[in-house]
Amino acid sequence: MSDRLFIFDTTLRDGEQVPGCQLNTVEKIQVARQLEALGVDVIEAGFPISSPGDFNSVIEISKAVTWPTICALTRAVQKDIDVAADALQYAKHKRIHTGIGTSDSHIKYKFNSNREEIIERAVAAVKYAKRYVEDVEFYAEDAGRTDNEYLARVVDAVVKAGATVINIPDTTGYCLPQDFGAKIKYLMEHVDGLSAGKAILSTHCHNDLGMATANTIAGVLNGARQVEVTINGIGERAGNTSLEEVAMILKCHKGIGIDTNINTQKIYPTSRLVSSLMNMPVQPNKAIVGRNAFAHSSGIHQDGVLKNVQTYEIMNPKDVGIDDNAIVLTARSGRAALKHRLHVLGVEMDSERLDATYQEFLKLADKKKEVNDDDILMLAGADRTAAHAVKLDYLQVTTGMGVKSVACIGLDIAGEKFEASSSGNGPVDAAISALKNIIKRHMVLKEFTIQAISKGSDDVGKVHMQVEYDGHVYYGFGANTDIVTASVEAYIDCINKFKK
Ligand code: KIV
Ligand code: ZN
Repeated sequence: MSDRLFIFDTTLRDGEQVPGCQLNTVEKIQVARQLEALGVDVIEAGFPISSPGDFNSVIEISKAVTWPTICALTRAVQKDIDVAADALQYAKHKRIHTGIGTSDSHIKYKFNSNREEIIERAVAAVKYAKRYVEDVEFYAEDAGRTDNEYLARVVDAVVKAGATVINIPDTTGYCLPQDFGAKIKYLMEHVDGLSAGKAILSTHCHNDLGMATANTIAGVLNGARQVEVTINGIGERAGNTSLEEVAMILKCHKGIGIDTNINTQKIYPTSRLVSSLMNMPVQPNKAIVGRNAFAHSSGIHQDGVLKNVQTYEIMNPKDVGIDDNAIVLTARSGRAALKHRLHVLGVEMDSERLDATYQEFLKLADKKKEVNDDDILMLAGADRTAAHAVKLDYLQVTTGMGVKSVACIGLDIAGEKFEASSSGNGPVDAAISALKNIIKRHMVLKEFTIQAISKGSDDVGKVHMQVEYDGHVYYGFGANTDIVTASVEAYIDCINKFKK
């Protein structure tokens, strides 16, 4: 009999903390519905006290999904817990996730406190959360660097206070797999409430040293029965443990004897959806979901795979939902074909939104022969420019070898029209310099990434930018079949985010 491992997805909370990758509520609902279809057990939907947007997202996600438990994060503070309970009012299954730092450096520098007082605050927070919900998870922040003996005292106290899940985060991604595994083993052996089945341990490993998945698996092998993960491993700094890696490790290594509820065939579409809505490219060599994860290029490998795929492939791409025969859409595809493809990709739309998306689809299909899944997901994202005060009206650029690039630009700023031109060192420089002749502010381009175009010269180019203005860095995104236009759109996206 296999043991069951619970999958706690924090893409919409820890994952969404990545600068520049914030989703609006409509997009979060799309991701949450896809996570439900994927089969996750818990969705951490946000940190309600942190902003009205987060509060509202927890409310709307609670209404939108049925089966997974909806979890809201708090600090060990009564007001946070009150607000989280309020945000969870519509959840069919609800959990409050409260906690406090337990490492000596957190206790001393963050809380100016001492070990005994931290235990008291932890217990008080769990008891307070229990007034609202039965299912309370406690996190011991920086547990990775917390001494095991003290950590066991904290865990024992919060289990006695009623916590049902105890999260042991390696917040800084510091632990080695054998040490993290030993930590989980120590807790399993020294906290009676755990062996008595009153609570389970959860892992929450960050990837700063590239060991998040290894640490998570070490935790599972030593008794943890919940893992906290994100799609594509996204998250602050080097990210979190990726859901797809843990799910496929357990599927490939049946001998471990642990099962999840994940429908692995939904992994790839979920990865594409999250990457597309967050404008966050997946590195090509990313395990399981990277573009090259199943591409054999060396002659020896190709020869072996042609003779028998098992020679070099440990999993079938179809098991993670990679469909080589996916139908590509063209300008002749109708609304129904688009609706079906959106459905396969995990996106449902009412007829009004489908109509609007179909119009955008036709415009794109006019520019490129085949519209692929990435394009469709991009079109399915909420129109971020609708509420923008600054919009690009037109852009004309003359460029070539041996001539100076010249750009003319037209902007619509809150309904008023402006035009300017400029020359520059290349087409993007000329276009941005023309833009700056209208928006005369001291703006500095800090980062400019053009996402690789992989499928033909008519493909949509995606541009990520960071612009510094008035002591802040703003993140912008643009996508267009014309890469210069995509660059200007990304710059304008940054400008629209400036704090006035
Ligand atoms: O990394 C961490 O410690 C966290 C906690 C807030 C759970 O994200
Ligand atoms: Zn975290």
